[in-house]
Amino acid sequence: MAEKPTFYVTTPIYYPSGKLHIGHAYTTIAADAISRFKRFCGYDVRFLTGTDEHGEKIQKKAKEAGMKEIDFLDAQIAEIKDLWKKLEITNDDFIRTTEERHEKAIQKIFTKLYEQGDIYKGSYEGNYCVPCESFWTESQMLEGNRCPDCGRETKVVKEESYFFKLSKYEDRLRDLFENTDFVLPESRKNEMIKNFLDPGLEDLSVTRTSFDWGIKVPFDEKHVIYVWVDALCNYITALGYEGEDDTNFKKYWPADVHLVAKEIVRFHTIIWPAILMALDLPLPKRVFGHGWILFADDKMSKSKGNIVYPGQMVDKYGVDALKYFLLREFSFGQDGSYTHRNFINRINSDLANDLGNLVSRTVSMVEKYNDNILVKNDETNEFDQSLIDTYKESRVDFEKQMNELMFHEALESVWKFVRRTNKYIDETMPWALAKDETSKDKLNHVLYNLCESIRLISTLISSLLPETSRKIFAQIGVAGKEELTSWESTNEFGLIKDGTKVEKGEVLFPRLDVEEEIKILEEMFAEKIVDQEVKIQHKKEITIEDFEKVELRVGKVVKCEKHPKADRLLVSQIKLGSEVRQIVSGIAQWYKPEEMIGKQVVVVCNLKPVKLRGVESQGMILAAGDNGSDLVLPEVLGAIDGSEVR
Ligand code: ME8
Ligand code: MG
Repeated sequence: MAEKPTFYVTTPIYYPSGKLHIGHAYTTIAADAISRFKRFCGYDVRFLTGTDEHGEKIQKKAKEAGMKEIDFLDAQIAEIKDLWKKLEITNDDFIRTTEERHEKAIQKIFTKLYEQGDIYKGSYEGNYCVPCESFWTESQMLEGNRCPDCGRETKVVKEESYFFKLSKYEDRLRDLFENTDFVLPESRKNEMIKNFLDPGLEDLSVTRTSFDWGIKVPFDEKHVIYVWVDALCNYITALGYEGEDDTNFKKYWPADVHLVAKEIVRFHTIIWPAILMALDLPLPKRVFGHGWILFADDKMSKSKGNIVYPGQMVDKYGVDALKYFLLREFSFGQDGSYTHRNFINRINSDLANDLGNLVSRTVSMVEKYNDNILVKNDETNEFDQSLIDTYKESRVDFEKQMNELMFHEALESVWKFVRRTNKYIDETMPWALAKDETSKDKLNHVLYNLCESIRLISTLISSLLPETSRKIFAQIGVAGKEELTSWESTNEFGLIKDGTKVEKGEVLFPRLDVEEEIKILEEMFAEKIVDQEVKIQHKKEITIEDFEKVELRVGKVVKCEKHPKADRLLVSQIKLGSEVRQIVSGIAQWYKPEEMIGKQVVVVCNLKPVKLRGVESQGMILAAGDNGSDLVLPEVLGAIDGSEVR
């Protein structure tokens, strides 16, 4: 058997310095979609993601958190890996730049470049932006010596430094930009030429001595290697370059595509190829610089407090709703604005209405009119040809657009066919055919074509919306049938077998109330002041005997209502073992009555009962939070109701 062609795709390695938002997830979801698609088409795919763990920024964050760097990082990485799992990301490897396999290889790479004269020692003075880990020249900075990427003030750094001879590669880089499609979209290429090549390349400072959280220069240990040199090389160290086993490197390098957003195209299309040239290695075939997802027309960023987190969206709306929205709403190369309204509208119109309805209507009709059984016969009708023609066109466009990473267009091509199929229902009117016994064959023919169309739709989208695709396969009776769900199977209309049994499943995407959901989303992502430091005023010391006077017990909220007279109060019925108590709490601003039900909270039981605005309260629920800040109820999941808290 001939060997499969390979396909190597990467995401940036993310800074693990805070929770990842939907902007980060966007790149990873896109990389996952193309990976799945290429595997589907028969490629031997390698999909790499990971984390960029060195540098001053990370060290500062760890310090702020009062943690050792590696402990801080381990916690962050665990969270990131959980997120990718939740999003069903199919990366083949996850590289951490603090891993030995990476650090050792970086030291070898650095030494090699030094020994061959591509790296030399000098001294550096320049303006450095710590959050972006970048040096900027006078002409690049904004007014007030601010960073052109993030707008924050840079600081002047002067230190002894090693330099990489970037200037030496200027001509070869220019040639690369001018004569290849190395950088896409086209507009990014022009930006790079104009902003970086035309003014002339200067040698790059590639070590630091002002902090120590980085990979040490092996022959001069007071220097750590510049985090971008360290980070960029992950794409080859992860494959075993300069490591113990370089089989993967030989097999997969050069990368077919590095996916990044526009702010780091510069590093990937100037510094990275120059390093590879110096190492005498082949260059990646392509760097695709996609646009930014903006929030209220501003870049989503933690420091600006305008973030939407993917994990919470998935919990509420499902993994494919988020994937579909991100890949369909934004044109991959361009910036786009996120709004809750657009998100909900997309789910409603494309997923619930167009696709969800098509599947549920069709499967219901097969159930109702033919006892769940599909019949393949020789009937035809006047709408068949147009249905099949639309399919063929969609299929061809889809493949081309996927290969060009035009995910939004690829999905639109499939949806053209989804809408055509819905129209086929209106044209053929199966409910009318069902009224007449003599039209039974005609009816079966229509139902067959509908299911076949749905098979093709769900097969095409299987790389982009894997969960939805699996659910649909199950409903139309093709789950696990390779010959009906493979890429090859999309070449033919009419493959589902006569006698296939369909089975109605859950609604794929329930229709959402737009205004209500916007409110929920706004609340979900309301800016919370998390970095605030509490000034603690301690109370007078007590003895253990004093503490034991307080009777704390676990209670489960079994009922909860708004206080009839006070907006800020909730009235809960709390089950404590064999008894139920009524407790009034001032938490209505933070918890809805329906959210309270089922919560296991801590109750102060021996507090003297009081009446609050006319309603008796027999105790108190413990809540965390200071005057003026948000309140959070400490919960004791899994404890037995009524048991004592000591
Ligand atoms: O830059 N819209 O890591 P990072 C779209 N460690 N994509 C966005 C986005 C937004 N609003 N925000 C982030 C780094 N991204 C370096 C990379 S690679 C050798 C080292 C995505 O954690 C996008 O892919 O800041 C962007 O390039 C990346 O996250 C930056 O992630
Ligand atoms: Mg960044």
